[in-house]
Formats: sequence, structure tokens, C-alpha cells
Amino acid sequence: MRIACIGAGPAGLYFAISLKLRDPRHEIHVFERNAEGVTFGWGVVFSDQTVENIMANDPVSGQVIVDEFAHWDDIDVHIHGQCIRSSGHGFIGIGRKRLLEILAGRARELGVEIHYETECSPELGNWREWDLVIAADGANSRFREAHANEFGVDIQERANRFIWLGTSKTFDAFTFAFEKTEAGWVWAHAYRFADDCSTFIVECSEDTWRGLGFDRMEQAEAIARCEHIFAQYLDGHRLLSNAAHLSGPASWLKFRRIICERWHYDKVILLGDAAHTAHFSIGSGTKLALEDAIKLAEVLNRPGLDRAEALAEYQAERNLEVLKLQNSARNSTEWFETVERYLHFEPWQFAYSLLTRSQRISHENLRLRDRGWLEDTEARFWERATGKAKAAPPMFAPFKLRDMNLANRIVVSPMATYSATDGLPNDFHLVHLGARAQGGAGLVFTEMTCVSPEGRISPGCTGMWNSEHVAAWRRITDFVHANSKAKICLQLGHSGGKGSTKVGWEGNDVPLDEGNWPVVAASDIPWTAANQQPRPLTRADMDEIKAQFVAATRMGIEAGFDMVELHAAHGYLLSGFITPLQNKRTDEYGGSLENRLRFPLEVFEAMREAWPSDRPMSIRISANDWAGESGVTPDEAVRIAQAFARAGADLIDVSAGQTWAEAQPVYGRLFQTPFSDKIRNEAHLATMAVGNITDPDQANAILAAGRADLIALARPHLVDPMWTLRAAAAADYRGQWVPPPYLNGMAQMARLFQREAEAAAALRA
Ligand SMILES: Cc1cc2nc3c(=O)[nH]c(=O)nc-3n(C[C@H](O)[C@H](O)[C@H](O)COP(=O)(O)OP(=O)(O)OC[C@H]3O[C@@H](n4cnc5c(N)ncnc54)[C@H](O)[C@@H]3O)c2cc1C
Ligand SMILES: Cc1cc2nc3c(=O)[nH]c(=O)nc-3n(C[C@H](O)[C@H](O)[C@H](O)COP(=O)(O)O)c2cc1C
Repeated sequence: MRIACIGAGPAGLYFAISLKLRDPRHEIHVFERNAEGVTFGWGVVFSDQTVENIMANDPVSGQVIVDEFAHWDDIDVHIHGQCIRSSGHGFIGIGRKRLLEILAGRARELGVEIHYETECSPELGNWREWDLVIAADGANSRFREAHANEFGVDIQERANRFIWLGTSKTFDAFTFAFEKTEAGWVWAHAYRFADDCSTFIVECSEDTWRGLGFDRMEQAEAIARCEHIFAQYLDGHRLLSNAAHLSGPASWLKFRRIICERWHYDKVILLGDAAHTAHFSIGSGTKLALEDAIKLAEVLNRPGLDRAEALAEYQAERNLEVLKLQNSARNSTEWFETVERYLHFEPWQFAYSLLTRSQRISHENLRLRDRGWLEDTEARFWERATGKAKAAPPMFAPFKLRDMNLANRIVVSPMATYSATDGLPNDFHLVHLGARAQGGAGLVFTEMTCVSPEGRISPGCTGMWNSEHVAAWRRITDFVHANSKAKICLQLGHSGGKGSTKVGWEGNDVPLDEGNWPVVAASDIPWTAANQQPRPLTRADMDEIKAQFVAATRMGIEAGFDMVELHAAHGYLLSGFITPLQNKRTDEYGGSLENRLRFPLEVFEAMREAWPSDRPMSIRISANDWAGESGVTPDEAVRIAQAFARAGADLIDVSAGQTWAEAQPVYGRLFQTPFSDKIRNEAHLATMAVGNITDPDQANAILAAGRADLIALARPHLVDPMWTLRAAAAADYRGQWVPPPYLNGMAQMARLFQREAEAAAALRA
């Protein structure tokens, strides 16, 4: 084939090499607008996996690259005058210019023709004599833009400003340096990539950038200013730019996240940054470009595959990799965009938060990298929780809310079991909640317990509206208190417009076949077309329902609960007031957030008055309606949390969604934790994270990174009441209380985990 590669960056050159290696008969020409040796940027970092891939693809260029790699293991985080160093991170880096030199040399050796100083135009008419045009023309690809519709291009410009500089100062660790200026925080990402050179990327928010006057400075002046800000790290070395094509404020970039729905059109195939980008803070753009090149060369040469099949496979496989990486990259990008949130952390926690920002590095992963550092971090976490340093997993650290002391941070999330009759909890609830309390969680929630028969979701829901309920609940709380160290929280709620439906396993939110009762809500909007049209509450209804909540709260005292939660999430009655998607009222209970919160806050305040002042109360909210600006947004959730905190909430139980049948939630592991993080660190409130948190490693990372104070697990507890005991056995943590009759089982499980860990360590060695 006769192939034109646009761009002599890593993608274009490496594709040419990879294709020639597979079939030297191809005629490949690489066109590059810049002169040879002229390139923008400094070093690039790789992972071990990328090295394996390039060694397997072309051992010749691979070996030259590997021989020149700069290696380093440590990460230094400089913040508030302290340096937190952790080790075992294993990076390898090389200068971009040198990498391109090696690749260009190798490409020529294989017979590829490279034409420098040749600007290519994307007009397809110019390329008639070519079989394929590989658009490896980088993030600002003219070829992609010329056919943006055909490629389905989606570009998101991110908020922060950055400038890619270099320096002759050689850093002995990957260095993150945060400095406070009169206009806000500015930070550097710096690492050595050659014996005499380091990359030095300076980043800050748009406001700080403007505040420091960078928007009006020539490049030299901006660099001088950066040298001054980071003088203590540079030891007199200069900062340097090689972005000759950029000047003045344009030297500062904003990262553009690029996704393409289709990676080929006509004879043009997108490759590398032209097809996708990954934020520089996870340093994977070059890796992706090289791996794209290998894959494309491989499929184009595979016998028996026609062009369409080859390109379909290329796109499907590479797109999946890209999406995974972009997910981590998004977390990392957002961390740097919202860094103000974490600046009040103590340096050890700030560093932990920074290291785990992309969610790719977990707590146990950090232990493998640097056990000493992780144990020191754990000890500090415990010291803050108890006053005494102890190197143990954060999830086992106690937590106090008012006068209630929780033995650890694990919570059995509220879960409807739909197993009651007339609201009366029975033996099922005793065993269900009792087993989970004995299973080691610090706090066990009841399911949504309804304040009236009409306020139930289904006929199987538990209730708290008469003395029989009180006695039945008392039996359960007595059991929990007598046979475990767990505390027990009563979740009170009213189903509103989502009431009068079948039990969960017969159909979620599906109306009863018979015996439906009329439902009420903020407005007369049915949950779905299949559900009843609710009657909007009158003021008299509100008074009655508020009184029911207060009565149930008082019964909760009699029934021996340690804590009460008001359920104002998931589209039930109170949530239906808060979300504008369900609340269309035109009176003082609809419209502005203040109005929409009026009734839920009134209920909460009345409950707080009735509930003993030494016992805590929480509020469960849906922190995101997953409906963009038309519903509750995470920003609004911060204000909602603050309003309930002012009304006396000690803990915000941060859930999301289920407020609108048409919502488009973005599921994934820990998918709601970002909202807990936001509320905790922007509003400075205690929070509980919930939602697809399944293993102790995740729980520990969330806690140590200060993203939540408590961790609630629902579905994992359904099938494993002993989740916390199992986690203690796996971590060989001896401080967890175990019901005495179960001690033998616990010891055996710990031994088995120990053996498994030893076998895994032997395998690694
Ligand atoms: C600040 C910063 C730091 C980064 N750090 C890292 C890192 O540590 N690790 C990492 O892996 N990645 C890093 N990257 C990303 C990395 O630079 C890119 O992902 C990588 O260069 C992509 O390679 P590419 O070949 O697709 O595109 P590019 O390297 O951009 O190459 C495209 C080439 O095409 C040429 N070209 C463009 N248009 C035309 C035209 N019309 N005609 C002729 N030639 C043309 C350009 O001159 C350029 O040489 C970083 C990026 C930035 C911005
Ligand atoms: C069977 C079941 C019943 C639930 N019932 C309730 C409930 O009564 N009250 C409530 O606030 N959330 C309820 N939830 C939501 C959970 O508390 C939790 O927020 C959600 O399942 C996400 O956590 P997970 O990923 O750990 O399951 C229920 C979830 C499940 C799976």
C-alpha cells in the first residue's frame, strides 16, 4: 500500500515503523510541518506495561529507548512548607525530542520516507493517489477538524491553565510543588527525564492565572514569574520554553479532552492525540499513541481481515483502552481543578489524596509500593480519630457523632426488605439486622421505616406509627445492643408519589395489582405513566405528616434507637419537594431551592426538637438528579447539606438519583463518592459515602483520602452479613470485636487469608 502519515510525532513515526516491520513492501511517507529536531514539549513518562509492548513490537527501537530511560521511584509532595515523600512508584521517562530522534532514525532505517517542513492540507482531493492517510497530526488535528461531523468529535476544554516548561535542575523524585501566591495557589508537576533535564509543568486556576497577570504577560516575563514562585525548588536553575510557536498568554494552554465516535472516514484514519487525549497529569498520551500505532499496523496486516473489519477491530479495542484511561484522567483532572477543597488537609492527607486522585492507585496498592509511608499515614489517621497513633486500616478507626461512639467506619446501609406485615417488623428483621450487627459493622440502619400506613412504599414496608411497632423494634435494638458493639439507626421516611407499589422483587415502583391506596406528593406528577397521579399536599396535610414524623421520632426513643435518619432522597415524599423535577408548586414550597427545602427542613427541625440532644441525626439526600441543570446538581447538594446541617444534622448520608424516572445516572465503582467528597470538603461537614463500594481497599482509600467519614454498603451486606469481620480477618486486624462464639471461625479465616497473602507475595517475588 501507499500510505501517507501526517505528523512525525510518536504516533505517526511509530505507526510507520510498526507497519514496515510487518510488511516492508508498503510505501510509507511521513509528513511533518516542523523542521527535524524541532518539537514542543519536554519529557514523557511510561509505565512498565508500555515498555513491554514496545519491546515486543520492535526490540530494536525498544532497546535504544529503554537504555536511555531515566528511572525514579519517589514522589515528593510539597505543601504548606512540608515535603511528604513516598516511594515504590517506579516511573520511567525520556525526553520527547530524543524519543522522536530514535523513532525517526529507526523509521528511515526501515525505509520510511520522512518529509519535514511540509504542512499538509486535509482536502481529501489532495490525497487521491494514496491508499491510506493516517491522521497522526496531534490534538489540534486539522484532518479531524475538517471532517468533525464524520468523526463525531466531542471536545471538552478543561478549566485550568498550564504551561509546559523544562529546566536543567534535575529532580530526584517526581515532584509536586504547591505554592500560595497573592492571587491563589499555583503548582508544578516536575520530573527528570534525562541526566541534565527535567519537565516542569506549571498549573493554576483561571482566576489565579488572571490574578497573577499571566493573561497580559509575554512568555519571558511569565517564565520569570514562575521561576520566582518556585525558586526554592529550582536552586538557581532557569525555566525554559521550547514552544517557539506560542507566545504571550498563548503559551499557557487549557487541556482539551478529545473523544471521537468514529476513528476513520473515507481513507483517513485517526491515530494518537488526533483521536483522543488523556490529561497530562496521568502522563499517558504518548503511551496511547504508541499502542494505537501497534494495533493499527497489526490489524491492517492481518491476513484474512478486510479493511472494514480491520478498522472496526482497531477502533473497538483502542477505544476501550482510551475510555478506561480517560476515566482515570478525568478524576485526576478534576482533582487538580478542585484542589482548593483539599488545601486545608494536613500535609500527609493532602499527599494521600493526591496520590489516589485518579482512583487507579488503591490503599493496598500504596502499601505494596511503600509500606512504611502507608503505615505512617494510617497512624496519623488513627491519631486524629483517637489521639493515639496506630498503624491499622482506617475503616476500623472509631468515629463519634454527638455522644454516640461508633466502633468503626463501616455502616449497613438502609435496605428495604419488604418483609413486614402492617408495618410490624418480625423475626426476619430481628435476624437480618441482628446478623449484620454481629457481622461487625459500626452502625446498622433499618430500612426506610414509614411514618404512616399510606406513607409506605409497599405493603411489606416496616412502620413506626403504633405501640406494637415500638415493642417489635425494641426487641431488635435490645438484641443489637446486647449481642454486638454496633449502634442502630432508625431511617424514617414517607413514600410520597412512589408509594403503593409492589415489593421490590415483584417489580420496582410497579403499582399493586389490587388494594392500592391514594398517594400524595409535592405536586401531581406521577412517577411514571404506570403510577398513580399523586394529590399535592395541602398545608393541613403537611402539618399532619410532620406530626407523624415527630411521633415516629419519639417512638424511636422508646424503641431504643441510637440515631435517627430522615430519608429525603430517592424521589420519596421529601425528596420530591427538593427536586425541581417533581416539585412544580407555585406557593412558598416550590420554585427556589429555599422554597423547595422549606417543608423538608421543617420536618427535620421538628424531629430534631423531639430527638434527644445527645443523640445524632442524619439526613439522606440525593446529591445529583442526573438530569443536568434541570435537576438537583452537586453544587446545589452542597447548599442542601448546609441547610440541614444548620437545622442540626450531624451527618450527611450522600446518595444520588432515583428522583426522576428518565434520569441518566453514570454508574461505576464508587460512583457517588465524588458527591460525598464535594460536600465534606466544600461544606466541611461529616459525610457518609455509599454506592458501589464493595471492598475494604476502597473503603480505606475513601476514608484516608478524606472523601467521607463513614462508608455505607448495601448490596454487599445482603449476601455477606459478616463483611466487616471478613475484612478484619483479611487485614489481620485484631482490634475488631467478634461475638465470642464466633472466635474460632474468625481465627481460621485470618489464617487462611494469611496463607493466601504469603502465596501471592511468593508469586510476586
Ligand atoms: C503538558 C503536557 C505534558 C505531557 N506529558 C506527557 C507525559 O508525561 N507522558 C505522555 O505519555 N504524554 C504526555 N503528554 C501527551 C503527549 O505529548 C501526547 O499524547 C503525544 O505527543 C501524542 O502523540 P501524537 O503523535 O499523537 O501527537 P503529537 O505528538 O502532537 O504529534 C503530532 C505531530 O503532527 C504534526 N502536525 C500537525 N498538523 C500537521 C499538519 N497539518 N501537517 C504536517 N504535520 C502536522 C505536529 O507538528 C506534530 O509533530 C503531555 C502533553 C502535554 C500537553
Ligand atoms: C434491596 C435494596 C433496598 C434498599 N432500600 C433502601 C431504603 O429502604 N432506604 C434507603 O435510603 N436506601 C435504600 N436502598 C439503597 C441503599 O441504601 C444504597 O444507597 C444503594 O443500594 C447503593 O449502595 P450499594 O451499591 O452498596 O448497594 C436500598 C437498596 C437495595 C439494594
